[in-house]
Amino acid sequence: MQKNVLILDFGSQYTQLIARRVRELNIYCEIHPFNKLPDDISLFKAVILSGSPFSVRHPEAPKPDLSQIKGKLPLLGVCFGAQYMAQHFGGEVAGSNTREFGRANLSFIKDQELLFDEVLEQSQVWMSHSDSIKSLPNNAVRIASTNDVLNAAYRIEGEPTYGIQFHPEVYHSTDGKQILENFLVKIAEVPQSWTPSAFVDMTVDELKTTVGNSKVILGLSGGVDSTVAATLLHQAIGKNLHCIFVNNGLLRKNEFEAVLHQYKDMGLNVKGVDATDRFMSALHGITDPEQKRKAIGNAFIEVFDDEASQVEDATFLAQGTIYPDVIESISVNGPSATIKSHHNVGGLPDFMKLKVVEPLRMLFKDEVRRVGAELGIDSKLLGRHPFPGPGLAIRILGEVNREKVSILQEVDAIFIDALREWELYDRVWQAGAILLPVDSVGVMGDERTYEKVVALRAVESTDGMTADWVDLPYKFLQKVSNTIINRVKGVNRVVYDISSKPPATIEWE
Ligand code: XMP
Repeated sequence: MQKNVLILDFGSQYTQLIARRVRELNIYCEIHPFNKLPDDISLFKAVILSGSPFSVRHPEAPKPDLSQIKGKLPLLGVCFGAQYMAQHFGGEVAGSNTREFGRANLSFIKDQELLFDEVLEQSQVWMSHSDSIKSLPNNAVRIASTNDVLNAAYRIEGEPTYGIQFHPEVYHSTDGKQILENFLVKIAEVPQSWTPSAFVDMTVDELKTTVGNSKVILGLSGGVDSTVAATLLHQAIGKNLHCIFVNNGLLRKNEFEAVLHQYKDMGLNVKGVDATDRFMSALHGITDPEQKRKAIGNAFIEVFDDEASQVEDATFLAQGTIYPDVIESISVNGPSATIKSHHNVGGLPDFMKLKVVEPLRMLFKDEVRRVGAELGIDSKLLGRHPFPGPGLAIRILGEVNREKVSILQEVDAIFIDALREWELYDRVWQAGAILLPVDSVGVMGDERTYEKVVALRAVESTDGMTADWVDLPYKFLQKVSNTIINRVKGVNRVVYDISSKPPATIEWE
């Protein structure tokens, strides 16, 4: 992997956003915790220091060792990063009575400053800080101000070291990307060579070397990550890639058959395994959401192990792990409590004794999609909404059985098909239906009914960490609700979930 840009993380909520902006410039970067510097630091071409929830004046604030970096590599401190350098190298940072959050405009930009090349005065920037840099180190020059913040940006004389108080990575900093480009391309002269096609070439070569003539097993889920991982491996090793696609009986309507067909059309060596019975018996009598996840996770491991052991001499297990799962995060508030035990179908037990290969482990989700497009994967497959590993089981509140799965599959299919038909599918990050454990009274024709209630959920999000409900048109909801009640036997009421995350979550269980 090209060692281009190192981002040192001090725990800011925006650190991953810095990395994504850098990658959008076709520049490869890696995030490392500030207190675990990589051994090969001199191989990097530039370093960015992130923001932090800490004040630099707090006794427990992060104190990075910059001795191998400052003055040796181009360095840009953002917010906390800028304040830390100002304070550490002879300036002064003080608290101010007014915290500054939100939009501000650059009222002064020093002439001929490469960092602000092509950025005009009055450019909008995003501030999020309570401390201010009151005085700069002796060898620093102020290069930008806002009305409220005199030292909004500075440069250290005689070396490519910069500090900026605002957040260039945030969308509201209108020239933020230009400023990052100025630093990385014009100042640090980092090559813009991180493109999907370069990634594909490099990864296919690497996979050929690591895997050689060995056999690799991969569990396909129908999702974007495992599909892209499989396609890359297929390019590298062809038929030595053995894919297993398990039907747990909890997928969307007709999904197993349709996706299996699609995989075969793509030339993948894939075996479809219908294990519905096994999952249904594992779920029998279970109502607790975490128990359901465990039962499904265990059943998956058993099925996968049975299938994998039929592939003779397999040495590798491939997984579609992506970068956000790999980044070591800085724990600011201590280890966070488990809210839901996600991704329980990802890990496999030690007894499988396979070496793990993860071709997407350095990619963000949007990059996985771009690599998928580069590999020629169907855009409909690439644009699919995320779908949880335990599938419809965590959308059926209470005990799961075949009849409930089948009702929910019908409801879900009507909703999802309508989203596509009304061209709303791509506006929504994730959508689905939930079967509630309550019966309600209704009337159909002259008959009183006492049947199930379903909830529809559609959210906007970028990463699933936070989400908001989508303001779908009333006419659309009306149409979908009518179709569901008319067509799906056993359902007489439809409601729409208008909760955001937090405090709710996307799934109901
Ligand atoms: P929540 O419900 O926590 O969901 O807001 C956030 C995202 O994670 C998905 N999700 C899961 N994915 N196994 C998975 O593979 C799980 O057990 C699981 N639970 C939730 C959810 O669909 C959403 O995209």
